[in-house]
Amino acid sequence: MEPSGDHALVTGAGTGIGRATARLLGLRGDEVAVHYRSHKEEAEALVQELASGGARAFPVAADLTMKKEVEALVQQVGARFPSLEVLVHNAGEYPRRSVDDLDEEEFLFTLMTNLWGPYLLTRELLPLLRKAPRARIVFVSSILAYNGSAHGADYAASKAGLLGLAKSLARELAPTITVNVVVPGSIDTAILAGDTPDVRAARERSIPLGRVGTPEDIAEAIAFLASPRGSYLTGTAIHVNGGLRMD
Ligand SMILES: NC(=O)c1ccc[n+]([C@@H]2O[C@H](COP(=O)([O-])OP(=O)(O)OC[C@H]3O[C@@H](n4cnc5c(N)ncnc54)[C@H](OP(=O)(O)O)[C@@H]3O)[C@@H](O)[C@H]2O)c1
Repeated sequence: MEPSGDHALVTGAGTGIGRATARLLGLRGDEVAVHYRSHKEEAEALVQELASGGARAFPVAADLTMKKEVEALVQQVGARFPSLEVLVHNAGEYPRRSVDDLDEEEFLFTLMTNLWGPYLLTRELLPLLRKAPRARIVFVSSILAYNGSAHGADYAASKAGLLGLAKSLARELAPTITVNVVVPGSIDTAILAGDTPDVRAARERSIPLGRVGTPEDIAEAIAFLASPRGSYLTGTAIHVNGGLRMD
């Protein structure tokens, strides 16, 4: 495989969408920092899989709500990479709680995970991103940022916050760094694991393309934004949802 010369960090890459994204970036020749929090074995297995195909990758661990861990992560990435061309903020939590049950600590924790963590990581990585002649940042939001969630006000608010964050960074970091958002609909990962067969069938009926998305469907959009082919997009969002919502 021809190395692209790009260095990429994908958060939450031990599972689901992040894993598919890290794999795709590795297969196209990027050197990939495969971030995980608890899925160490899965992250290491992906690194092995990529290495056996000639790609370069290494695992990095951090709880992105912990400032010290974010700083340590940034140090490790900086020790391996001379510059960072691709930063994918995929890690996120969807705790599913109704408004009656959602207390202050839980609400703020979701914001810490889904909004503050990505902001902090971006800020700490700016020196490395600025060493690249051009760099691309991609956030993973959610269709629920637009539709709202009947059991996740904290989640929908955090994912809507990412849209404002991305647009602000897009203005501030232009022209050398582009900042965009991918907005998934219903994607077949651990997040949907609690679906009963009835819920799953109803979910599929509600999607014009007739199926839930795959992690790879989302990875393709992220990889596009994180490539020269996406170089004239910044401050925008790409919806990948099988027609579930048409924006
Ligand atoms: N699946 C969907 O239908 C859907 C729809 C819209 C948006 N999304 C978004 O897509 C992204 C990926 O989710 P997924 O569907 O692929 O589910 P997933 O497999 O559960 O992935 C979530 C990832 O986030 C990481 N993570 C969570 N909290 C973290 C923290 N505090 N510090 C570091 N890492 C943390 C997890 O790491 P560990 O497992 O290693 O702890 C995990 O790899 C999320 O942002 C999610 O909100 C998903």
